[in-house]
Amino acid sequence: PLVTSTELFKKAYDGKYAIGAFNVNNMEIIQGIVDAAKEEKSPIILQVSAGARKYAKPAYLKKLVEAAIMDTDLPIVLHLDHGEDFEICKQCIDDGFTSVMIDASHHSFEENIELTKKVVDYAHNKGVVVEAELGRLAGIEDDVNVSAKDATFTDPDQAVEFVERTGVDSLAIAIGTSHGAYKFKGDPNLDFQRLEKISMLLDGYPLVLHGASTVLPEYVELCNKYGGNIPGAQGVPEDMLRRAAQFGVCKINIDTDLRLAMTAAIRKSLTEDPGNFDPRKYLGLGRTAIKEMVLHKIANVLGSSNSL
Ligand code: G3H
Ligand code: 13P
Ligand code: NA
Ligand code: ZN
Repeated sequence: PLVTSTELFKKAYDGKYAIGAFNVNNMEIIQGIVDAAKEEKSPIILQVSAGARKYAKPAYLKKLVEAAIMDTDLPIVLHLDHGEDFEICKQCIDDGFTSVMIDASHHSFEENIELTKKVVDYAHNKGVVVEAELGRLAGIEDDVNVSAKDATFTDPDQAVEFVERTGVDSLAIAIGTSHGAYKFKGDPNLDFQRLEKISMLLDGYPLVLHGASTVLPEYVELCNKYGGNIPGAQGVPEDMLRRAAQFGVCKINIDTDLRLAMTAAIRKSLTEDPGNFDPRKYLGLGRTAIKEMVLHKIANVLGSSNSL
């Protein structure tokens, strides 16, 4: 069934594991993720960005997720990823999403609180939960380009005040991750001291980690081997994600790793089978690659297998 994340996060917090939040854009991605979750008996969050809604049209994604829910009795959260204003959050809430993110992290502290509170009031009235973000991730945050230099990590005391004043259900924090396939110039490094402080102050409260793809070298290499050009890509090492789940991180966002897996499989298929022009063949292999990536994440990184 379609559920909110409230109960899922409680169990994940206590069990020190995380729920995977996977970005969805089309049928093959949704099916690959859901097939993996079924096999691992894991709850999942399917998240839709503004770009995904623009690409697939909102009604199509909603209906595809409904079809996935008919296909399984797994708990599935339908979440808006990086909602930039009240309007898009309201639209998704009215559309039947069970969770929305209001990302006002690029506004001032007070404006972030004000906008988040407005979304929380509307959402809670309809039984929908809200994620907000405090602090800035380095790199591209949807349309807002925040240079690495200006990236500001989440202040632990502000996090407490933010949660108290907004009543928001979960909080995305900035501790050194960033979106996309180029997360670190040198060695990967996250501010675990800061995370521990935040999780100590916000005892029992679910935190969210964005920009949490690992950018597995074998998939980058496969892309590059079959005509791609993705040099210098680097993500968050898996042991850091496992460690984050020990300190209150209950939701781990993954998009880039799905993109890499699907692209690697499709590139390989098109190269190895040049006579094929049936999209089902390469899209089917792309879907299998998504499933394998999500199986790996759930079983070996998130730790949410058999947690129903
Ligand atoms: O945070 C961004 C997600 O990876 C979604 O990306 O806005 O290109 O759909 P998108
Ligand atoms: P990645 O780019 O690391 O997959 O992060 C995705 C994300 O945070 C979506 O909100
Ligand atoms: Na999100
Ligand atoms: Zn994000």
